[in-house]
Amino acid sequence: MTPLRGTVAVPGDKSISHRAVLLAALAEGTSTIRNWLPAGDTLATLEAVRALGVSVDIAERLPHSWDLRVEGKGLRGLRRPAGPLNCRNAGTAIRLLAGVMAGQAFPSVLDGSEQLRRRPMGRVTEPLQQMGADIRAEAGHAPLSVRPAPLHGIEYAMRVASAQVKSAMLLAGLYQDDRVRVHQPGPARDHTERMLMAMGAVVSAQDGWVTLGDAPTGGRRLLPLDMTVPGDFSSAAFPIVAATIVPDSLIVLRGVGVNETRTGLLEVLRAMGASIRVSNQTVSGGELVGDLTVGFAGVHAVAVAGETVVRAIDEFPVWAVAATQATGDSTVRDAAELRVKEVDRIAVLAGELRRLGASIDEHPDGFTVYGPCRLRGASVDSHDDHRLGMALAVAGLVADEPTIVHDAACMADSFPGFVETMAELGAAMQWVEPV
Ligand code: S3P
Repeated sequence: MTPLRGTVAVPGDKSISHRAVLLAALAEGTSTIRNWLPAGDTLATLEAVRALGVSVDIAERLPHSWDLRVEGKGLRGLRRPAGPLNCRNAGTAIRLLAGVMAGQAFPSVLDGSEQLRRRPMGRVTEPLQQMGADIRAEAGHAPLSVRPAPLHGIEYAMRVASAQVKSAMLLAGLYQDDRVRVHQPGPARDHTERMLMAMGAVVSAQDGWVTLGDAPTGGRRLLPLDMTVPGDFSSAAFPIVAATIVPDSLIVLRGVGVNETRTGLLEVLRAMGASIRVSNQTVSGGELVGDLTVGFAGVHAVAVAGETVVRAIDEFPVWAVAATQATGDSTVRDAAELRVKEVDRIAVLAGELRRLGASIDEHPDGFTVYGPCRLRGASVDSHDDHRLGMALAVAGLVADEPTIVHDAACMADSFPGFVETMAELGAAMQWVEPV
């Protein structure tokens, strides 16, 4: 096994990149967004914003980091799109856009890939309908059809802690004057709230309730953004786990977002014995950013449940890989949400890790990995799920024989340059067929 060594940056945060381009489109004036993530998912939002008549300039184009200039049209300045807005595989794009489209004076249709059409949309259409929106799903699934309707305030308790649902409601809330209050059963990521506040909106959070205040005299308006998107902690998770489990590794990841609604994995890995240090903390665009130093460490099993799950929800595929190298039985519960992500991330993950020799059992709301497992190389498949594909590639680093991850192009849905970044750190990872 070749150790991972060196210093790299991971691409910009996916959640923040979606929000930045969408909210900048609604601002009054020109926004500057640096280190924006040009990935499959976020490009869907950028194209949707352009289809709504907003000019987005790429001021600087590095391979995996763009600087954008967005000419905001104000809340009421979007144009009727020529056709359905294609959200591709991006749950965040379709659910956030649903909130914005609900407030428009023109009809629209939101659609996406076959994979996206399988994901539940009732969780977002129901509260929007309760706010007065005329939004319909086909049996709870995309395509979503939205028509103009007057909106009003709401007090709403979400059944699952979903940042996408919360965000859709706050965004729809910009199109009416009353208060919007959303209760979250757990601490879902708060990037929308932070960005809205930076743009002058009155948003507060207390006792699990997030509130968009009554409209100020003169109506609601958003100021333009000037921000640098932090590195994506969810992308950093892959080299973090790789350096933790590949002997003799020592890496530094620069400029990673460490907003605590996102860093559940850090706490979980530390509880397993991992060596992860956060240094040089600064605030950028209202978000906490730091450098992460990660070294190899022998890890032991841990049980994860409750609110930590919400703050680590996207990291369980790669956490499962860490668990295969841990001594003892590692379990995650309270994570039924994993079944409605890009794919059923419990069933598909268990199936693919077993092909590599892992011992893993499914539960309705999680799974148990019986470690340590000796992994052997095998042919595995991402099932067109970016995070599953990257997790399997990390597993391949500690397997006895080479591992081939099929259907790997989807890794660029969130982490363009994943293979190259890992190779730069010295990981024995390469494309079989270049994409
Ligand atoms: C996201 C929220 C989470 C997360 C997804 C991105 C976001 O989904 O899993 O990858 O950007 O708001 P839910 O809001 O459905 O939990």
